[in-house]
Amino acid sequence: MDRAPDWAKVASDPAAFLSVRLCSPAWLEAALPVLRAHAHDDGDAARAIAVIDERLAGGPLPDEVFGPRPALAAFVAGALASAIAFGAPGDTRDAAVQRIRRARIALPWAARALGLPPPDASYATIAVESLAIGVDAGRVSEADYHAGVEEVLIDAYLASDDPRQQSGKSGDETVWRWSRELVLDTFEGDATLLDVGCANGYLMESLHCWAAARGRTVEPYGLEISARMAALARRRLPQWADRIFVGNALDWTPPRRFDVVHTGLDYVLPHRRRASIRHLLERALVPGGVLVLRAPRIDPGEPTPAEELAALGFTVAGEVEAIHPTTGTRRATAWLRR
Ligand SMILES: C[S@@+](CC[C@H](N)C(=O)[O-])C[C@H]1O[C@@H](n2cnc3c(N)ncnc32)[C@H](O)[C@@H]1O
Repeated sequence: MDRAPDWAKVASDPAAFLSVRLCSPAWLEAALPVLRAHAHDDGDAARAIAVIDERLAGGPLPDEVFGPRPALAAFVAGALASAIAFGAPGDTRDAAVQRIRRARIALPWAARALGLPPPDASYATIAVESLAIGVDAGRVSEADYHAGVEEVLIDAYLASDDPRQQSGKSGDETVWRWSRELVLDTFEGDATLLDVGCANGYLMESLHCWAAARGRTVEPYGLEISARMAALARRRLPQWADRIFVGNALDWTPPRRFDVVHTGLDYVLPHRRRASIRHLLERALVPGGVLVLRAPRIDPGEPTPAEELAALGFTVAGEVEAIHPTTGTRRATAWLRR
């Protein structure tokens, strides 16, 4: 008898499972023999599903709760994957969505447990693009856009055990530091710093440490639109739990002012960007404080953050860029002074 009938079902008809974009066909083809060889119901599947639901709410990863359990992880991922493909008649939309969201956590868990490469999911990118198209076409409201982006993006962040990926950044620690440390070049000395869109708080932590290495003190704070992501950040950084706030950068009322505010233009829809920056400048910064943009990768022909701020009507106070020593990748940031 096949020990992994659920994965056997997926193998025999993978189309429905692949359609939810948790992985590519190539990833599935390479991973299936390993998943099928290991999946085994050891009696803990119901508890594992409960833990996955907790993770979707910002709780611990299944790996943290169960330790190394490859058979369980492969079994649960298979049960969820095959149910996507073979939904029972009378299934509700909510139940189907819940299964897909559970599988977003379960499949990367199984990959980690079995030493497979992380599944090359593209569901978040596709969903964010389609939400943006929906807004342009007048089919998706601003509130639904933010809720929709939160669902897919934060599910993807929460599925990973890598602190950088939980902050939406691929690559190793060297790349992380290279791409983020230039924030410290936009102001001098010690500062209180608000990271708008703080995700799991890793940038708060990193800037604090990198500043200390330069003999400076950065006291980090965070604002996050996703309550479950803020819950993860508070759990990771209990010493700063009361510095992590939940709100939308666009209309959040800060409980205090900061010397530095670090934010991204793309956190709000294009027609809201000017208002969002003005709001942070006026409400979140001390007089003389600095509002610094996240430093994106700039491909040839793309506008720099300084150009984007100028196009929105702001007077740029300074800009700084970094070229990666081996890849030649260019990152640049710019700042405004209040
Ligand atoms: C890519 S992460 C950035 C992490 C870190 N700040 C960095 O720069 O590396 C973006 C985070 O911003 C949050 N976010 C997006 N729109 C937001 C908004 N309008 N207000 C507050 N947070 C927002 C997302 O939920 C996500 O966790």
